[in-house]
Amino acid sequence: MINIRCETLSDYTVIAEVNTLAFGQKNEAKLVEKIRRSDRYIPELSLVAQIENVVVGHILFSYIDLVSEETLQVLGLAPLAVHPKFQRQGIGSALIKAGLEIAEAKKEAIVIVLGHLEFYTRFGFQPSVVYEIESPFPVPEEFFMVKPLQSYQKSYKGKVVYPAAFNMI
Ligand SMILES: CC(C)(COP(=O)(O)OP(=O)(O)OC[C@H]1O[C@@H](n2cnc3c(N)ncnc32)[C@H](O)[C@@H]1OP(=O)(O)O)[C@@H](O)C(=O)NCCC(=O)NCCS
Repeated sequence: MINIRCETLSDYTVIAEVNTLAFGQKNEAKLVEKIRRSDRYIPELSLVAQIENVVVGHILFSYIDLVSEETLQVLGLAPLAVHPKFQRQGIGSALIKAGLEIAEAKKEAIVIVLGHLEFYTRFGFQPSVVYEIESPFPVPEEFFMVKPLQSYQKSYKGKVVYPAAFNMI
């Protein structure tokens, strides 16, 4: 049984561990900590997945900028991590679905992710070019994806700019 809930202060250490194990490096754990300390942090969109009271997965959505004539804040999904021993059991998918439901409830317009096409298309993500949204990174088009939510409007286009917290060490 997977239980998904918001993070609390006492989860911070295990969240860092899960990220470090999942990615095999500390960058993502540091990213989570930097976002938490920034004004882009959204407490209700930092979620953990628990199995029998053990945290085995984590997902974070935070505000990033979508810049055209005006600058709009949109959701960026990063990072998503599942403990290596618990991968391929539906935990990552459950975290994404739970996060997207909260984002809908908050009337957010879009979610942006850099990740694998096959995985994220399952949740309604499409390459960002479809929505005239440009990646700030020189990555192949299919890796930079967008999921429009119910509040999406055509004005949500332009170039994505990540806030300073994303400047990796
Ligand atoms: C990607 C990740 C979050 C998926 O979580 P999960 O709980 O294993 O995912 P689910 O069980 O819900 O879904 C499984 C799907 O994830 C993808 N996936 C999971 N592990 C994968 C791996 N090691 N390599 C490639 N794809 C993988 C596959 O598409 C898989 O589908 P399949 O089982 O039908 O082949 C998890 O594998 C992870 O933490 N990976 C390391 C960190 C990472 O790459 N994070 C993604 C950042 S965008």
